[in-house]
Amino acid sequence: MKRVFSGVQPTGNIHLGNYLGALKQFVELQKDYQCVYCIVDMHAITLPQDPKELKEHILDVAALYLAVGVDPQKSIVFVQSDVPGHAELSWILTCSSYMGELSRMTQFKDKSKNRDGESIPTGLFMYPVLMAADILLYDTDLVPVGNDQKQHIEICRDLAGRINGKYPGTFVMPEGYFPQAGARIMALDDPTKKMSKSAENIHSRISLLDEPAKIKKSIMKATTDSDGCVRFDVENKPGVSNLLSIYSSLSGVSIAELEQRYEGRGYGDFKKDLVEITVDALAPIRQRYEEIRYSSELKDILKEGAQKADAIAQQTMKRVRESFGLGL
Ligand code: AMP
Ligand code: TRP
Repeated sequence: MKRVFSGVQPTGNIHLGNYLGALKQFVELQKDYQCVYCIVDMHAITLPQDPKELKEHILDVAALYLAVGVDPQKSIVFVQSDVPGHAELSWILTCSSYMGELSRMTQFKDKSKNRDGESIPTGLFMYPVLMAADILLYDTDLVPVGNDQKQHIEICRDLAGRINGKYPGTFVMPEGYFPQAGARIMALDDPTKKMSKSAENIHSRISLLDEPAKIKKSIMKATTDSDGCVRFDVENKPGVSNLLSIYSSLSGVSIAELEQRYEGRGYGDFKKDLVEITVDALAPIRQRYEEIRYSSELKDILKEGAQKADAIAQQTMKRVRESFGLGL
């Protein structure tokens, strides 16, 4: 069976962009793949974290994985730092990575600017190498992620190809898997920026655990335009196009059909229906989350997941050490 791997950082405020860009695919892929889903706490510490909050956020993401429908009977769910192979492989890959290629990563450029003269942590620079280690450690075939991770997948493939060129058969070549709609959900208050966990305005995003009243407020306030026509045109109508993408990915109705449905009607009707669809989609997730988050079962699932993940990781590391001539 082919293998899927993906991860989400435990940094709070998991939102609709994370869901439509990544988590929704995690669930669908379980039918046909052996799936490994990780909570990437070592990626989270590339920027400063409060240790107590980080621990809670790890369990939050784990509970959300299960709440959206990741099934621990089928898939492996675990915390990155529980499997030492990630750090070990990351170092080995570091020695085959180049300053130039890492300097070109847009996420690094974004995250390292505007730091008010503060130093830039090396971990932020090495972030894509750790991500490549995550993926290659599990002989991954497919990586479901949002569009913002495209460059990181490419560098992972470059590293795998470079090393396989020297030491054939060391790594399985992975491929990115991006959803058709929803791969890049934009901020509701500013559709030129992507929806993010860290934006100050809470109405810029819909968090997966938002109450119906908050969802309604955020959508009704969402930036549109003055043209009054529900039409998909990212360049000229980024706000409406973003709402159409959300509507389409949550409902499964195509964008063309939605354009027809709302022809000659204003944004009010369109937004009201979108509120209903979003509330209905998120209500069961919130309910399951409440049931799981503080259950004793959650940590057991993660412990068992780490054991299973570690068994795969150890096999890969044996092969990698052999390829590189490391150890006895
Ligand atoms: P992160 O929160 O950065 O760990 O991201 C977790 C997953 O959500 C990754 O696969 C991202 O590509 C995806 N993601 C994050 N923000 C968005 C967004 N605004 N639209 C679509 N996917 C996103
Ligand atoms: N960098 C990803 C993000 O921020 C999270 C991540 C870390 C990841 N390791 C991964 C995603 C491996 C897919 C595969 O969204």
